[in-house]
Amino acid sequence: MSKEVYIYRAFERFWHWLQALLIAFLAFTGFEIHGVYSFLGFRDAVRYHSIAAYMILGLIVFAIFWHLATGEWRQYLPTGRNIRSQLNYYLFGIFRNAPHPTKKTVLSKLNPLQKLTYFGLKILVIPIVVTSGLLYLFYRYPQKHGIEALNIDSLETIAVVHTLGAFLLVSFLLVHLYLITTGSSPTSNIQAMITGYEKVDEKGGPPEENIPSLIEKL
Ligand code: HEM
Repeated sequence: MSKEVYIYRAFERFWHWLQALLIAFLAFTGFEIHGVYSFLGFRDAVRYHSIAAYMILGLIVFAIFWHLATGEWRQYLPTGRNIRSQLNYYLFGIFRNAPHPTKKTVLSKLNPLQKLTYFGLKILVIPIVVTSGLLYLFYRYPQKHGIEALNIDSLETIAVVHTLGAFLLVSFLLVHLYLITTGSSPTSNIQAMITGYEKVDEKGGPPEENIPSLIEKL
């Protein structure tokens, strides 16, 4: 038995898809800058990479504001509860048609592994890419006018850190694409991120800790 449940609000869906598009485009132009292939040409790849970078910075500012204003940031607080059952599900249960160990609700949409992963992305990987990207972007301009605003001897470290962050983001994207298909049906997750509503199995575990219960603890 399955039922339709409202999971993702409108801003969340808009943010998710624009972010996905921008990260894919930044990866595409970034790896051309890196020299992996030639499609747009180096100059245009740099130009479009910079435009998309400003767009994602703007989106990040809006998303931070939305998460703080709505209290949704608490969705991402990592928890040690149920991690083992979630891991067991992805490694074994999923191949035996076992029920999902945690249920999704609008108040608690992330399972414990997702919480951990998205928390890591938000406090580590994205800040690494954004900070190194900004250093990459602005390192040259002060020097052009003879102003030594940033005391950096070479771009090498910044380039390596930025590329490492890019690899981590692309690896996340690949795993994410597989996990999208592991909902109650192969398309239920993607449908939820488009319409907001997801078909979820009625059987399966309880919802993860939700916002009200977290608020009580804070
Ligand atoms: C706010 C976000 C970002 C900013 C400000 C930014 C900025 C930059 C800049 C200025 C460059 C160097 C361009 C040049 O050579 O003139 C660059 C290169 C690059 N970017 Fe980004 N970027 C951002 C996000 C991303 C993301 C999300 C990815 C991939 C997922 C990415 C992947 C790359 C790669 C692979 C390179 C080539 C690095 C190299 O070989 O040195 N960037 N980025």
